[in-house]
Amino acid sequence: MISPASRLGEVKEYYFSTKLREIAQMRAQGLPVLNLGIGSPDLPPAREVVDRLVDAVTHNDVHGYQSYNGVPELRQAFAHWYKTWFGAELDPEGEVLPLMGSKEGLMHIAMAFLEAGDEVLVPNPGYPAYRAVSNLTGARIVEYQLEEERNWLPDLAALEQRGLGRVKIMWINYPNMPTGRPADRRFMEEAVAFARRNEILLVNDNPYSFILNGEQFSIFSIPGAKDVALELNSLSKGHNMAGWRIGMLAGREDYLKVVLRFKSNMDSGMFKPVQLAAVEALNSPPSWYENLNAVYAERRKTVFQLFDLLQCDYQTEQVGMFVWAKIPDRYGSAYELADETLYKAHVFITPGGIFGSQGGRYLRISLCSDGALYEEAIRRVQKLQGTL
Ligand SMILES: Cc1ncc(COP(=O)(O)O)c(C=O)c1O
Repeated sequence: MISPASRLGEVKEYYFSTKLREIAQMRAQGLPVLNLGIGSPDLPPAREVVDRLVDAVTHNDVHGYQSYNGVPELRQAFAHWYKTWFGAELDPEGEVLPLMGSKEGLMHIAMAFLEAGDEVLVPNPGYPAYRAVSNLTGARIVEYQLEEERNWLPDLAALEQRGLGRVKIMWINYPNMPTGRPADRRFMEEAVAFARRNEILLVNDNPYSFILNGEQFSIFSIPGAKDVALELNSLSKGHNMAGWRIGMLAGREDYLKVVLRFKSNMDSGMFKPVQLAAVEALNSPPSWYENLNAVYAERRKTVFQLFDLLQCDYQTEQVGMFVWAKIPDRYGSAYELADETLYKAHVFITPGGIFGSQGGRYLRISLCSDGALYEEAIRRVQKLQGTL
């Protein structure tokens, strides 16, 4: 075996990648594992979106390489979507960069802005990719803690006291995953001011704003935010298109040009029919989001029942595609309870520790399974507890 590059040293295989393998092995042995872990929507995209894709594929002129910054129709649709739903102005020519999912954008931003030795503020708990992409650049991770007592918002004053001279990027993610904390205008205003004072690039990762969330919020609804902030968005969650790989990066043109310098060396544009279908998705009427949320709201009620059964505590005002809940004191960690439900009831629930130590006493259940599966999970846990 030829040795891998040392930059991979700290980067482990993605937790879900190994766990899904284990679940597949259990299933191969005949164990009917219910996977309530992963946030990949089970529902299809809108019919018009699929029709647009199917129609576009039959045209002869769609099969070549596409431009590095997407077709103009897609950039315009993203800008229009931001104006309509987020109340934020973006210039479709320079301030919108379509991405193959927002996850790739994390890597592009890290590669485009970070040097070895720079510091990066990463949320704990938080989406693991923030840490992984920052690590790959050789930057130093500085965790900031999110705590239930602070309503899952960082303590910016404490961070400032610590000294931020070497910090180049702060990753934030509101509405937050995994905690379900909604976006908060006041906090965002403070964060923009903090980024400006400390010359930090503030990157808000915003893929969950359409799921069980009241008003959509963009960091660009804050005056002056474009000087210091970037925002990622995605069609994965709100449009049931996770496998299509469509996201976007929004921000000031000169920042996006820097990102494009890296990205244009990585890929050669997105398949045009996918881009045209994405335009259709971005023009979805309010009823699309309402119908989607009606399904998630129903599922969430059953997930609350499942957490009640497991004697976990949760806030009912959470937003996004998951429910986040605190385990009872008698367990050493959430891994213990997650292993118990997996190996004894064949129900996989994500242990919050994979999002960082601050998640160590929490579990996360995804709302992306058919309602009947949550009922089945409840029956299995009742059986395990001897209450059925
Ligand atoms: C917080 C967060 N950011 C980004 C992503 C990646 O989304 P995409 O499918 O757009 O790459 C996810 C996916 O689970 C996520 O939870």
